[in-house]
Amino acid sequence: MMKTILITRKIPENGVKMLCDKGYEVDVNAQASIPTQTELISMLSKKPYDAVLSLLTDKLDAKVFASAPSVKMYANYATGFDNIDLKEAAERGITVSNAPSDIASEAVAEHAIALMLALAARIVEADQFVRDGKYAGWDPMNFIGTDMLGKTLGLIGAGRIGGRVAHYARGLGQKVIYTDVKRNADIEKDSGAVYFNTSEEILKLADVVSLHVPLLESTRHLMNEARLKIMKPTAYLVNTSRGPVVDEKALEKVLKEKVIAGAALDVFEFEPQISPGLIGLDNVILTPHIASASIEAREDMARIAATNIIEFLEGRKPPNAVIGSQHQFT
Ligand code: GLV
Repeated sequence: MMKTILITRKIPENGVKMLCDKGYEVDVNAQASIPTQTELISMLSKKPYDAVLSLLTDKLDAKVFASAPSVKMYANYATGFDNIDLKEAAERGITVSNAPSDIASEAVAEHAIALMLALAARIVEADQFVRDGKYAGWDPMNFIGTDMLGKTLGLIGAGRIGGRVAHYARGLGQKVIYTDVKRNADIEKDSGAVYFNTSEEILKLADVVSLHVPLLESTRHLMNEARLKIMKPTAYLVNTSRGPVVDEKALEKVLKEKVIAGAALDVFEFEPQISPGLIGLDNVILTPHIASASIEAREDMARIAATNIIEFLEGRKPPNAVIGSQHQFT
């Protein structure tokens, strides 16, 4: 029987082609907006799909799984998989994979560095000033920022993405310090990063704090008001991880009160809603969850997600399975 696959929104063509080339029947949901859960369930009930290529905006929970009993595999088109109830999936014998692309890690790291430099050089504020017609000629005191050379970058989370950020930061002549649940010998060797046991120590010392943790119960609101207040008044916060890692209300408060110098966010606690209080602040840069949005990264993520589906449907272990009862993946 021909295998059928649902892709819940348009992704780069190379991934779709890989699946079509295998002779699978591939349906791509053409809608331009994020499907609601009702829309997702109605899409899934059109056919007895064998596998689904899902996005981080698809909330995959018991209700969705129950509505699509034929689907034995969900391949998430993302590094993160906090949109999926893994316990429910495991109980139902559903395999789940993610797409931890090295190329996407580079893209996210580049974005984090771009945000850091944009904060320090006040690029966004200055661009707005020019567009507003306010530029009246060179002024020795206009838009004074701060150099990043020689400054300390503090990483909270030093996996694949944090490691690349450390690498670039070293290239910029920064000192790198980091904390994580375990030490990462590779980043210590590559960028001379120095390990600290707690995020508090990082927050105390860093001129820029960049977050690279997954969203877990233990990392939700990791950056709460108390921790934000440990940061230096001259320090910047960069978040390219997941929105709820930062308590956005508390962030708004410390930015307004100049407890910290600025923040750049690619992800938001109530995505796609942005806390209205952040919008009016000059010392904040906001990008719409695009850190991995390079063509190279997105095509590689499509390739990885498609590979995981193909391996699964051909009875082999998907290389990026995060759970799957059939194969006892750990
Ligand atoms: C994007 O946020 C991802 O997890 O890949």
